Amino acid sequence: MMAAVDAWCESQMKPAPRAVSVAAARCAELELPPISVTPLMGRFLMLLAQLTSARRVLEIGTLGGYSTAWLAAGMPRGGRLITIEIDPKLAAAAGETFRLAGISEVVEVRCGAGSEELRRLRREHAEQFDVVFIDADKASSALYFDECVELTRTGGVIVVDNVIRAGHVLESAHADPSVTGSRSAIEHMGRSARASATILQTVGAKGHDGFAIAMIGPRTPAATGVHA
Ligand code: SAH
Ligand code: DHB
Ligand code: MG
Repeated sequence: MMAAVDAWCESQMKPAPRAVSVAAARCAELELPPISVTPLMGRFLMLLAQLTSARRVLEIGTLGGYSTAWLAAGMPRGGRLITIEIDPKLAAAAGETFRLAGISEVVEVRCGAGSEELRRLRREHAEQFDVVFIDADKASSALYFDECVELTRTGGVIVVDNVIRAGHVLESAHADPSVTGSRSAIEHMGRSARASATILQTVGAKGHDGFAIAMIGPRTPAATGVHA
């Protein structure tokens, strides 16, 4: 039923951009696990890029580049997207997918662990990002969120995928670190002085899950011993 509703809603939308169709075909051809965002969720990511006129987008967790293609489709000409993938085979395959899809000028794949690549971006003093999509190892989602806050411009948006996990997020002592990691990401978002956040529970072709979404506000002046 949820999948049928997803399929019907999707059928009423505009045709997917060519790059997205190419990425979807490549994911199928390479027999990647069916864990990419759904088409309707991909459209949501595209909308976020459009709403923020995103010229700089960061993604952690590329897989087959399906969500990447949706994000890229929402960006204006001249925009740049960096996507981070730990698996060298997936990173190479995604690079080829972006060439086939005609978006290799827009998308840069960085192969490495999320935590290291984020640290590298900090060191590079990379231009701040308008949109960040965190969708890699869920155990690290909270850590990625904290790092990404520092890499996001005021008014920029951070989305964390898979934070509900069919409700398992309620179990504080769950054995699966991807569940406790998602729980922790929600806690960090709620506590972050710079984040105005909410959680969108989702149902659809991938069952019951959710996005956490935060807009990043200005840095609050740090209280010092002298002025506090
Ligand atoms: N965003 C994709 C799906 C990503 S699946 C989409 O919706 O289309 C999660 C990906 O994160 C996998 O490809 C996995 O290899 C990668 N990953 C896992 N651990 C990682 C880590 N520590 N750093 C970077 N990527 C990681
Ligand atoms: C998994 C990962 C995802 O990013 C997702 O959207 C769904 C499932 C997983 O690793 O099981
Ligand atoms: Mg995901």
